[in-house]
This record gives sequence, structure tokens and C-alpha cells, in this order.
Amino acid sequence: MTLFTSLLLAYLSIATDSYLVLAEPIAPSSIVELDCGPGIVCINGYGAVLPFPFNRSDGGEKSTYGDTNATNVPGFDKINDYHFVSFDDKFKRLLGGDATYEFMFTVADVTHEVNTPNCTQGPVWIKDRNWILFTQVAEYWQYRIDLNYHPPTLQQYSASPPIYSADGGSFHEGLAYFVSPGGGGQVPSVVTYNASSNEATTILNNYRGVAFNGLDDIVVDPNGNVFFTDPWFGYLDDFNPTPPVLTPGVWFFNTSSGSSKLLDGTLQEPNGIVASPDWSTVYVSDTGVNSGRPPTFHPTGPRTIYAYDTDLSTGSLLNKRTFFINDERDPDGMKIDVLGNLWTASGRGADVIDPAGNLIGKVQTNFTVTNLVFTGDNLRDLWLVGLGGVAKVHLAERGNRITKI
Ligand SMILES: *[C@@H]1O[C@H](CO)[C@@H](O)[C@H](O)[C@H]1NC(C)=O
Ligand SMILES: *[C@@H]1O[C@H](CO)[C@@H](O)[C@H](O)[C@H]1NC(C)=O
Ligand SMILES: *[C@@H]1O[C@H](CO)[C@@H](O)[C@H](O)[C@H]1NC(C)=O
Ligand SMILES: *[C@@H]1O[C@H](CO)[C@@H](O)[C@H](O)[C@H]1NC(C)=O
Ligand SMILES: *[C@@H]1O[C@H](CO)[C@@H](O)[C@H](O)[C@H]1NC(C)=O
Ligand SMILES: *[C@@H]1O[C@H](CO)[C@@H](O)[C@H](O)[C@H]1NC(C)=O
Repeated sequence: MTLFTSLLLAYLSIATDSYLVLAEPIAPSSIVELDCGPGIVCINGYGAVLPFPFNRSDGGEKSTYGDTNATNVPGFDKINDYHFVSFDDKFKRLLGGDATYEFMFTVADVTHEVNTPNCTQGPVWIKDRNWILFTQVAEYWQYRIDLNYHPPTLQQYSASPPIYSADGGSFHEGLAYFVSPGGGGQVPSVVTYNASSNEATTILNNYRGVAFNGLDDIVVDPNGNVFFTDPWFGYLDDFNPTPPVLTPGVWFFNTSSGSSKLLDGTLQEPNGIVASPDWSTVYVSDTGVNSGRPPTFHPTGPRTIYAYDTDLSTGSLLNKRTFFINDERDPDGMKIDVLGNLWTASGRGADVIDPAGNLIGKVQTNFTVTNLVFTGDNLRDLWLVGLGGVAKVHLAERGNRITKI
């Protein structure tokens, strides 16, 4: 035996020993567990080790987890047949034993661009009417789902005066709050809407005379003040012909004093915004993964949700940190359940993330989801809206309204 061979064997034995001390990966045959609950497929050990070869494309809107080509994992090719994918038993408990998924309505399946405007967005539940209001982008009308009918009905309505392309919505003390990206002869603005009187009232439309870029989403705090996002999509998507003047931003608007202030100008395209049930944390998604004019998908760009601590007494967001990155399209609209799990639109469905930032499950749809909302007296119905469809999931766990009814 040459010295080289002995060294090689010694190295190999060390390498083999160090390999042996590693935890045994879960056998490929146990990674995917079909029907691990009603309508649920479970991914054991998060599929942290997939036997090679495996391959998944860039995680764009047409690529789901189940599209991963993991030929040596039995059952992997069946993942897309399920509406619920569980990575952690916490998700199975949220769903409960009688979770259902129903496709409710077909709406037009087109993208954000003004030339193909039928993207839906911004659902708000109006409790006293039992309506869901959501938006038809780049139109003067919105959609209304009337939950008083069985099955529910889908209608169109126009606020007075009409709100062009209302993109995000929130609810506070009897009023819906919508943000509009501008265009259609309107400037980007925050608008309140009274569903009983059908009356829309603009409460903010400029920063010291400068128009905002294109307001995208909004959440109203318990004091009635407003956190909103102002990305460039209004211009990039060509709803709003005016080139941006302000940095893409996360803003605070004091509805009593009229003062608005920039809280964070470091995100590329701030998009969805939501608060934890106790308002200690605000989450903002950055969807700069879609960038350029018109926006195109750049898989390495931000598709990231950030968390901030809040100080509602001063209207501040502090201690920004990374919370989550989507593996599918981008994190658009978001909502939170009573346990603090964050539900975010995520390509063809929704991702459910625990408060520590771990994905615990996915809801899978056959259309691209842009936003979602909890409804019903016990907030156990989750409605998902997006490109081409509206779906409803019935859950064991309650959602959370966040704002005052
Ligand atoms: C992985 O899949 C994508 C599309 O699904 C394909 O374009 C790419 O060539 C594949 N890569 C490999 C290494 O097979
Ligand atoms: C999946 O991977 C296998 C093994 O690499 C390959 O033979 C097959 O063509 C791939 N299928 C697709 C749809 O990419
Ligand atoms: C958008 O939807 C409306 C109502 O369904 C329809 O009249 C219009 O043609 C659609 N526009 C496009 C570009 O699909
Ligand atoms: C909404 O409009 C109705 C009918 O005009 C009115 O009674 C109610 O006070 C309004 N609600 C709010 C919150 O302004
Ligand atoms: C909002 O403005 C009012 C009136 O000036 C002031 O009393 C209050 O402290 C402000 N709130 C915040 C969060 O800045
Ligand atoms: C999604 O599925 C529903 C019901 O299964 C069907 O009616 C609808 O056309 C599908 N939508 C799309 C966009 O494939």
C-alpha cells in the first residue's frame, strides 16, 4: 500500500464515519404521505433530503412545490392532486377533520397590466351586511359576494363616487378602507367606503402636493390610523401614467391630524401589509421579484415578507427583520389567524406560516391567488381571490379580523 493509498483510505474512513454520525434521512418512500388526513397530503421531515436527481424550475407562478421533478420519491407526482399540503401537524390541526375546499366563482383570468386588466384584489368582509367586497383592477366597479344567499351570489357594484382599481382593503368601525393605485383620471389615494350608504370618501391623496406612486395595500390600526404600502406597480403596470417621484415605501397616515410619514423606504416593491392579532408585529411583503415596466418575473428578486415591531402611540415600525421567502410567485395579500399564523397569497394558492416563520402548510388552487380574507361569525371561512377564480376553505381554527368591528 502506498502512502497515498493509506492516506486516501484514512480520509475515506473519516469521511464515512462523519457521514455515519449524520441523522438518517427519511426514506424516500416515507417523504410523501398521501391522505394523511381528509383531503390532505403530508410532507414528512419537510422533504429536507430529496434523493437525486430532482429539479424544480424558478418558482414562478406556474411552478408549484408538487411540480418538482423528484422522480425517486414515491407519491411526489400526486401532491398537486390535493388542496391541502401539510408540512407540520399544526397545519392539520388548523384544518381540523372537516376542512373543505370549494371553487366558488370563475372570474376573468388575466394579469395586472392595464391592457389585460381583470385581476381581482383586496377582499374585505363587511360583517353587518355579510358581504365580501373585492376589486376588479383597472375598472371603476368592484365585486360583491353576498353571503346571505346559499349558495352565495357574485355581483358588480360601483361606489359613489367610483373608486378606480381599489387594490387593497381593510375594515374599521363600520367602514371599509380601500387604497387605489390611481389611473382612470384618479390620483393614488386612501378612500373610506360605507357599504350601507355606498358612499366613498377620499381621506388622503398626496404628500405635500406630490402624488403617491400607486397605493397597494392597507391595514387600519385599533386607533383608526392607517399603515399602507406605496410601490411603483401603478406606473409599472401602466394603470397610472405618471412616473414615480417618491421611493417605494411603507407609510403611516394619522387620520386625526392628517399627517402622513414614510416608515420604510428600503423595500423594492412593498405590497401586502397585515398586523398580528395583538398588533405587536406588522408584516410587509416585498414583491420586487416582479420588476421592470411592464413587470417581469426575476426569480432571484425579493419575494420576501418582513416583520417589524410596532409602536402605535407614535405610528412607528421598528426592528425590521426577514420573516419568510415564498417558493412560488410572490407573497401578495396576507391575513393572520387567531393563533398568529400568517396566510399569504402564494402563486397557485396560499402559504401558511407559523409565528416563528416556518411554513406549516399550503392551500392549493387551480388559479393564481392575489389576496384572501376570513369571514363568517366564527371567522372559519377563508376566501381566496385572484386571477380566474374565487375559492373558499372552511377551517377548524378561527381567523382574526384585527381591526375593530
Ligand atoms: C429543470 O426543469 C426546468 C423546467 O422545469 C428545465 O428548464 C431545466 O432544464 C431543468 N434542469 C435540469 C438540470 O434538469
Ligand atoms: C424528470 O427527471 C428524470 C430524471 O432526471 C428525467 O428523465 C425526466 O425527463 C424528468 N422529467 C421532466 C418532466 O422534466
Ligand atoms: C374584464 O371583465 C369584464 C367583465 O367580466 C369584461 O367585460 C372585460 O371584457 C374583461 N376585460 C378583459 C381584458 O378581459
Ligand atoms: C354609513 O351610512 C349609514 C347610512 O347613511 C349611516 O347610518 C351610518 O352611520 C354610516 N356609517 C358610518 C360608520 O359612517
Ligand atoms: C395623531 O394625531 C393626533 C392629533 O394631532 C395626536 O394626538 C396623536 O398622538 C397622533 N397619533 C400618532 C400615532 O401619531
Ligand atoms: C378550477 O376548477 C373549477 C372546479 O373544479 C373549474 O370550474 C374552473 O374552471 C377551474 N378554473 C381554472 C382557472 O382552471
